[in-house]
Amino acid sequence: MATIFHVTDLHLRQALPGHAGHLHRLSRRMPALLDALSGRIAAVAPDLVAVTGDLLDVPHALLDGEPGHDLRAITQAALADYLLVRRWLDSLGRPWMVLPGNHDHGPAFDVVFGSEPVTRPCGHLTIHAFHDWEQAGNQALRIGPSRRHFEQAIAASGVETDEVHLQHFLVRPHVDYHYPLLYGDADDIARRVADAPGRRLLLSGHWHEGTPMVQVGNALMGACPAFCEPPHRFRVFRIDPGGPIAMEEDALGASFTAAKQLTIVDRPGLLTLPPADGAAPRLVPRSDMARIIAGLAAQGHVAIASPWHAPETGTATWRGLQYAHDAFFQALGSDAGQADALSLYLPPGAQPGRRLPAEPISREPDLVPRLAALFGMAPAAVTLLTLDPARRAAGIAAGAACPDLSDGMPDIDAILAAAGR
Ligand SMILES: [Fe+2]
Ligand SMILES: [Fe+2]
Repeated sequence: MATIFHVTDLHLRQALPGHAGHLHRLSRRMPALLDALSGRIAAVAPDLVAVTGDLLDVPHALLDGEPGHDLRAITQAALADYLLVRRWLDSLGRPWMVLPGNHDHGPAFDVVFGSEPVTRPCGHLTIHAFHDWEQAGNQALRIGPSRRHFEQAIAASGVETDEVHLQHFLVRPHVDYHYPLLYGDADDIARRVADAPGRRLLLSGHWHEGTPMVQVGNALMGACPAFCEPPHRFRVFRIDPGGPIAMEEDALGASFTAAKQLTIVDRPGLLTLPPADGAAPRLVPRSDMARIIAGLAAQGHVAIASPWHAPETGTATWRGLQYAHDAFFQALGSDAGQADALSLYLPPGAQPGRRLPAEPISREPDLVPRLAALFGMAPAAVTLLTLDPARRAAGIAAGAACPDLSDGMPDIDAILAAAGR
């Protein structure tokens, strides 16, 4: 029997600045959660650890080649984070295979992982890893070397073939969503593996909710839920030669270890300066912002809340909003941006910029309840620091401590004292 430990969509950022734009993609928590996962992997003692893409959450500015950003620094940080993932994989003491997803940066990924084989034996199995990329319209296609690799694998198959295909995007089942999740040529891939002699197991990531495994002809396929999101799920497959394939899904559970309190800092005024009139979407950090975050982090967990419809980001699209926040965290330097989470949110009734993220974006009244739940805390253990009277009222209604900071822009001592309660 061969055992495969499948984990996907880490969306890690450690050297990379800031946070994924989605609240539940806990990029900065990933190193600690991967450490915790090591123990679970050791207990399973798999024959292979497979990570199917989105290893990092590379800022969109680099993925898009957006001018006006320090892309060289982001690339260096991505390299450092790929090395972190590689050191973690090597530390497991088990064979492993990885492949890139749409949030990975191909050149940096290749520097760290490019020399790894894309086919390897695993007990009685053969494992193939397919490096595929999104093309026009965010639609992934299996083309070029990846397609040739796939064609060779299919052509070489016989009744004895028992293999596993690892890829980022979905082949089946269909998932109805406004962003393409399946390969543009998924019908062709599905038909080929369904009809080919032997047996195939296709393991995908990308769709963070995951899917059930579905049988299509001679192949079993589906997507594992994203490890970066609570409750941090993974799957273990046990494959008997000529026998059944058993799947078990498990999860690490809590994202954060208990701290006495959670401080939510509402960005405007407390972390950034008022916007200049007519400026492009841009966040200007206060000069003492890094010290404010460090001071709050000494008291417990810290989450940054940032309103989308503030004057400085009000016209930004969802992607522009992420550019602005990534640049803001990057400007802080490598020692800052160490808040535990970032919650982008809208006031009640406000319309979001052009495209919504996959998860519902927080609204003002949800700020305290959603973050308290994420950190496994009662709202009474939450302190919300905000200069906005309506947000303060919403925080009080949710049960959080909300000190009155309404007298202008408080200095660092006043902010830390207010959080210390
Ligand atoms: Fe992902
Ligand atoms: Fe993805």
